[in-house]
Amino acid sequence: MEFVLFEQKNQIGIITINRPKALNALNSTVLDELNEVLDSVDLDVVRCLILTGAGEKSFVAGADIGEMSNLTKAEGEAFGKKGNDVFRKLETFPIPVIAAINGFALGGGCEISMSCDIRICSENAVFGQPEVGLGITPGFGGTQRLARLVSPGMAKQLIYTARNIKADEAYRIGLVNAVYPQEELLAQAEKMANGIAKNAPIAVRNCKKAINDGLDVTMDEALVIEEKLFGDCFETEDQKYGMAFFLDKNKEKVKEPFKNC
Ligand code: CAA
Repeated sequence: MEFVLFEQKNQIGIITINRPKALNALNSTVLDELNEVLDSVDLDVVRCLILTGAGEKSFVAGADIGEMSNLTKAEGEAFGKKGNDVFRKLETFPIPVIAAINGFALGGGCEISMSCDIRICSENAVFGQPEVGLGITPGFGGTQRLARLVSPGMAKQLIYTARNIKADEAYRIGLVNAVYPQEELLAQAEKMANGIAKNAPIAVRNCKKAINDGLDVTMDEALVIEEKLFGDCFETEDQKYGMAFFLDKNKEKVKEPFKNC
């Protein structure tokens, strides 16, 4: 692929957007390649993904402004849909995705990070939705996900003013879970991913689905979703093993890895 790298480290997959000359801006090719790389992930083996950007300056500096500059109304809508479809695939991807935000996360960059389950960033990270300064609205889900993630009032302020915020403010408003020195970011993301990967994979997937699907419906409906996914776990080998291990009083025993079945 031209702009997207994929590395598999045992049960962790690392996707790197690799277009550093344009600060990893998202053009159509990057979006197509992201879509392709997600389709190619071996879900029998990989239990958690990390999404990051190449270089030390930028995670993703937004959708490609050059590509968007001459779009018609219909083409603009189609470009928005293209981004939304890929980001939604990421958001609903069966396994967790951690965004390791290593610099600028502007416009489409902030938006793709918000499609991930968890965001951590480097101290030099900068977040923002600068679109209204370019004469457009956020177009890859920013109006929806920022409002849900940090609060409608804060999202409206950030989007209407197009003001960029630094890592410490992103942390304060709950946009990121943690801030690390740049050189530690990927190692911290891998540590978190490995911590997730060692847990029962079907249970982790069901947690993701329960949280995501539950947020879109009423509490009564959400609890039914949870009950179903909770019940499904009792058909897995991993549940049988996990509970038997807990109940076994043999202190010498060593916990086996979960089998994903
Ligand atoms: N699209 C296309 N190219 C971009 C880009 C983008 N979003 N962001 C940066 N680049 C390119 C620059 O044009 C420049 O290319 P050249 O070297 O060929 O001139 C290169 O990346 C380096 O950028 P700068 O020279 O501007 O670097 P800087 O350090 O001076 O500034 C920056 C960094 C503040 C991030 C600045 O590049 C910037 O403001 N970028 C645009 C950010 C932005 O507005 N993003 C939102 C896009 S709209 C969007 O995303 C809509 C949506 O929701 C779908």
